[in-house]
Amino acid sequence: MKIKSAEFVISNTDFRKCPAGNRPEYAFIGRSNVGKSSLINMLTGRNGLAKTSSTPGKTLLINHFMVNNEWYIVDLPGYGYARRGKEQREQLRHIIQTYILGRQQMTNLFVLVDSRHEPQAVDMEFMNWCGEHNVPFSIVFTKMDKLGRDAGQRNIEAYKQQLGETWEELPPIFITSSQDGRGRDELLDYIDSINKQ
Ligand code: GTP
Ligand code: MG
Repeated sequence: MKIKSAEFVISNTDFRKCPAGNRPEYAFIGRSNVGKSSLINMLTGRNGLAKTSSTPGKTLLINHFMVNNEWYIVDLPGYGYARRGKEQREQLRHIIQTYILGRQQMTNLFVLVDSRHEPQAVDMEFMNWCGEHNVPFSIVFTKMDKLGRDAGQRNIEAYKQQLGETWEELPPIFITSSQDGRGRDELLDYIDSINKQ
């Protein structure tokens, strides 16, 4: 799919205030600092569209971006940032969970996982929560440029194996780098194929 336009629309804390209409939307979630906002910029080819930072906890709102005047990309706050106070963590969890469960237009959730780490409990718990609530999701491994091919592949296999212990069928898996553009075509084609269904 070709990206002809991508622009910021609105930020919210409440999913009920998100854009009206029934255009499909694709949301990006994952631990703080995993690379959600960077991936959105890479996919749209618009650097600075979504705000990024080397300090975790940059994105704190539900951010809608309109793509090709047809569908939305949604940048969500990260989960599991340990240094955040309990109250703010709970508040973010509420924003994220009510959006995911309440937003009818949310067509597919991309759960981002840092390819540099072995399976993390917080990611496994989040994906299991998605499964329990029948949330359609895919897994996107990020930052693949940061480590050698073998190490990245090992971590991906470890995730697959752990998921396989609870899941009969694995969700679609994408391998990406916002640095070198890896996985861009695959992700955009996947979104395109769902939009055309
Ligand atoms: P929060 O909004 O804080 O939850 O973070 P986020 O998941 O949106 O992460 P963000 O895109 O802001 O990126 C976090 C840091 O990781 C930034 O310093 C990015 O430059 C870096 N980063 C993101 N993706 C990649 C990647 O694919 N490769 C490399 N090398 N660095 C990346
Ligand atoms: Mg962000």
